[in-house]
Amino acid sequence: MSTDARRGRPLGREEIGGWFDGEKGLIDKTIYVDPDIYELELERVFARGWNFMCHESHIPEVGDYFTNYIGEDQVIVVRDENRAIQVLLNTCSHRGNALCRAEMGNTKSFQCTYHGWTFGLDGKLQAVPGGANFYRDKLDTAQWALRKAAKVEQYKGFYFATLDPDAPSLHDYLGEVGRIGIDQMAVHGELVAIDGVQKNVIDCNWKIAVDNLYDWYHVNFSHRSAMRVGFVSASVMQPMQQMVMLGEYGHAIGGPGVSPAQQEVLDGLSDEERTRLDSLSFEERAKLAPRISERRPIRPTHMKEVMGPVGMRAMGHPNIFPNLWISTRALQLSLRLPRGPLKTEVWWFTFMPKSYSLDQRRAMMRFMTHSFGPAGLLEQDDGENWTYSTRAALGRVARRRPQNLQMGLGQDEVREDPSGQRSIETRVNEHAQRWHYRCWTDWLQAESWDELKRTRTPSPTGRI
Ligand code: FES
Ligand SMILES: [Fe+2]
Repeated sequence: MSTDARRGRPLGREEIGGWFDGEKGLIDKTIYVDPDIYELELERVFARGWNFMCHESHIPEVGDYFTNYIGEDQVIVVRDENRAIQVLLNTCSHRGNALCRAEMGNTKSFQCTYHGWTFGLDGKLQAVPGGANFYRDKLDTAQWALRKAAKVEQYKGFYFATLDPDAPSLHDYLGEVGRIGIDQMAVHGELVAIDGVQKNVIDCNWKIAVDNLYDWYHVNFSHRSAMRVGFVSASVMQPMQQMVMLGEYGHAIGGPGVSPAQQEVLDGLSDEERTRLDSLSFEERAKLAPRISERRPIRPTHMKEVMGPVGMRAMGHPNIFPNLWISTRALQLSLRLPRGPLKTEVWWFTFMPKSYSLDQRRAMMRFMTHSFGPAGLLEQDDGENWTYSTRAALGRVARRRPQNLQMGLGQDEVREDPSGQRSIETRVNEHAQRWHYRCWTDWLQAESWDELKRTRTPSPTGRI
């Protein structure tokens, strides 16, 4: 029986296990609105997992900082005097005031606006006004450093942090599927973050925003207006060739894929053709792609060694569990930050290959800001649907009927490549959404990392 939720009823393993029925593909709507479930998520998903902080290019110099969240805990990610990355809880150790109010910047220290306690870039308490006169030299400043994340690690320049000292390494946490997700960004060479993060709050539960990123069913319907004005085309938005990769702890990639036959064409290129292909820019690849993968930029051939023969073909949307969406059509990352059960703060980070000219940057940014974010044609459609799906779950009677996630259930096969990589190659489906809720259940049921490591659902094989 769990008792670690901040308030409310204790939630036991059996009750948690009853919310998602993987055999029937049904979800209890309570999980989108219940404050006790939300508290348990903060404790067992966000405080336990590895959370995306920022990219190395956000904080290149000593003193550069970037503020982010781990669940509802605000953190400051800062490069200290030794050039190490520190992740400090943004709450003064005196009376809890937020130390840093800016989203990013450069500083020599963090001084609290309330009583003036001052902390170094490593979180140590450096100065206390009235230390001699008022505290009479009795305050043990060594004990009042800022609280730090338990671990901070990076993969290909993308920094993550966890508050749980028992978490596995970031490499092991991401596993093959999570790493392939980030490789989809890293494939474009050295990246730089564009200044500013687009942020807006949508009245929906964070899980509804997350599971939608795997949903290739809604696109032709929800986003029809974007198609009518010619912003996107149906063949790009809902190709029949779909491919899903399911990774441990809940990471997944779902969406279009390059078929094995198409990949064979690429594999059959001569050395000279291969060299020519590898030297193309992101945009040139996108132009070449219609013939090969439904207009998704094809990858440099050497990425096969990094992503493997199956990962190389996955062109869909990766999500790093719990809430980091890698949007690979453009170079964007989106965090779906929980703000209570009924609100989600959506953040959009935009990246560019470092080699881009100013004109290329402008063109890319125009496309990105018109797709997602508060002004994005696509996210406006999505946000409305998420809001009303969440709101309906508050209804006492509406809540009695579960949500339906049955598409493709029991009708596809997990294929295993000789390399050991697994994929489901099929039409539009809901495999990744079901996997998300299956793993989410594992996370909530386990009382520790030790238990989660032992009891997590292994990546599926066979009929799914
Ligand atoms: S709350 Fe920060 S110095 Fe008092
Ligand atoms: Fe959408």
